[in-house]
Amino acid sequence: MFILGIETTCDETGIALIEAKEDKVRVLKNELRSQYKIHREYGGVVPILAAREHKKNLPILLENIKKYFDLRKIDFLAFSVGPGLLPALVSGKEFVQDLAKKLNKKIIPVDHLMAHFYSVLIKDKNKWQKVKEINFPLLVLIVSGGHTNLYLFKNWQDKKKLGKTLDDAAGEILDKCARYLGLPYPGGPEIERLSIKAKNYFPLPKPMLQQGYNFSFSGLKTAFIDLVDEIKKYKKIDEEIPNLCFSLQKTIFEILIYKLKKATENFKVQNIAISGGVAANQTLRKMVKKNFPNYRIYFPERKLSTDNGLNIAFGGYLLFKNGTLPLNYQEIDVYPRSI
Ligand code: KG4
Ligand code: ZN
Repeated sequence: MFILGIETTCDETGIALIEAKEDKVRVLKNELRSQYKIHREYGGVVPILAAREHKKNLPILLENIKKYFDLRKIDFLAFSVGPGLLPALVSGKEFVQDLAKKLNKKIIPVDHLMAHFYSVLIKDKNKWQKVKEINFPLLVLIVSGGHTNLYLFKNWQDKKKLGKTLDDAAGEILDKCARYLGLPYPGGPEIERLSIKAKNYFPLPKPMLQQGYNFSFSGLKTAFIDLVDEIKKYKKIDEEIPNLCFSLQKTIFEILIYKLKKATENFKVQNIAISGGVAANQTLRKMVKKNFPNYRIYFPERKLSTDNGLNIAFGGYLLFKNGTLPLNYQEIDVYPRSI
């Protein structure tokens, strides 16, 4: 069967086409347009501009797919209904509803965060591939610009949210602190790039480390800003930027790993999946592998860590295979917050 997946939750516009048969999939097209250059000017994502850009980009991406494939052959559409930025979600919803109506097809709503998780099971390649098997019980950590959520999956059906961030998300802290250093948006990849040149480590606080599985990063952000201001008093900040970047990402990753470790011990889990934009970070990947040597660790391909249409198309297929029925276009709604 053929599935067209559409992603518009934040600042990436994505449409992908996959073919799927039992436990095999192949990626026919994975079209993506990033809007970071537009939001860069404002230091972060401006929701209303994201909506405008999705509206502009979606028909262009669809046209690229149409050149190659007759859309009447698709079996259903998959659409990322949330969580995400409301104006961005609404512009995607209008597009997908209109398309479903024109093609006379139904839609499977896909949760954006679960799609991040599913992305660990596939690769972005044109050849037929077997969907990776996953071992349970499993801890799933989603670290993105909008979320830091930790889940325990006993199996595919039995999922429990153990914790979430009570304030900023991990990626959001990287973006905000990068901005304070005068680095461009998105901050995560910039911080990763500059950290390589670091020589020293500045200790930073790890708020709420001992309190359950929730996260809190806003105190760390304040401490980071105070540290930057302090350094600026006696020297040029440029010299310390690599050290500051290195210290910030190391502290965030240590917090994530600490909570993961606690959860693996408490729930006797040997399998961990980590996904979302921040999971693209190579240092995080290395630190996780080092801290969990005898565990089965699932990361997505680096380019599938951040938002894209393929995760959604594949998510739609997994849901369908597990009994989810596609909906009429009128039944589709979006939700900005994580559920
Ligand atoms: O999943 P995603 O594309 O969008 C949301 O769902 O939020 O994640 C975007 C976030 C941004 O905060 C960005 O700075 C961060 O992921 N990010 C990274 C890296 N690449 C993207 N953070 C750390 N290292 C990276 N290489
Ligand atoms: Zn995301």
